[in-house]
Amino acid sequence: MPQHSAILNVMIKAAYRAGRSLKRDLGEVENLQVSLKGPRNFVTAADRRAEEIVREELLKARPDYGFLGEEGGAREGRDKSQRWIVDPLDGTTNFLHGIPHFAVSIALERNGAVVAGLTYNPATNELFVAERGKGAFLNDRRIRVAARQRLADAVVACGLPHYGRGDLDLARAEIFAAQQNFAGLRRFGAATLDLAWIAAGRLDAYWERDLSPWDVAAGTLIVREAGGFVSDPDGGEAVMSKGVAAGNETMHRELIRLLKEAGRQRAEAAHTA
Ligand code: IPD
Ligand code: CA
Ligand code: CA
Repeated sequence: MPQHSAILNVMIKAAYRAGRSLKRDLGEVENLQVSLKGPRNFVTAADRRAEEIVREELLKARPDYGFLGEEGGAREGRDKSQRWIVDPLDGTTNFLHGIPHFAVSIALERNGAVVAGLTYNPATNELFVAERGKGAFLNDRRIRVAARQRLADAVVACGLPHYGRGDLDLARAEIFAAQQNFAGLRRFGAATLDLAWIAAGRLDAYWERDLSPWDVAAGTLIVREAGGFVSDPDGGEAVMSKGVAAGNETMHRELIRLLKEAGRQRAEAAHTA
């Protein structure tokens, strides 16, 4: 059994409580698929409920810390050096469709750096955690990124921008490059789990543009503590609001190379058009 710090135990308790609420609500979502109105309003409420639970638990334990949640926005704490970053429901579209691939994601940022992160999928009861310098864990087991070195053996996840948002031509060029080089490309729909799955060695790499801090804060630490590499999709320093590229050292490097190449091709095509 890993010895977690008191602060991580607070985070785990919050995630389990919110997770129980989401799991109950998932049952109702499944029932609502057949109703004409559909589950959309119900899911919005489930999402807010989950954030409220997480917020209550975290602020009960550390009332002075700041809080940044996807649903409720930002609240400055008296202690300016510490901040919670929370996505109460990552993978909303999956949840809305009753697809059991979604997670509660909680990170603790101290002086601008994430020092503890957690991603919990209540549907599978998988809890991924990491603290800076202490390694990454899936439930009670230490996890490491996969050792795979050949692109032709790699399974890689990506995000897909909505039509009308983001640079669709660039996304197509990047996806095309990935299809040509990797064994398989996946779109799972929960950024924080894509990162956690790299840490667990299930996925070899993942990239997505235009994410928000709550999508990546916990997952980035989990990947790094599992021995993986994370940057922005252009190979620059990981900035929480710029999207991510992650993998083991080789896969990360190769992914960045492919993304850069796709970017060049996209620019040339735009130039000659
Ligand atoms: C989304 C998921 C999805 C990613 C989107 C995110 P949400 O978060 O992480 O995988 O592609 O860009 O916004 O809205 O389900 O919390
Ligand atoms: Ca999210
Ligand atoms: Ca969300």
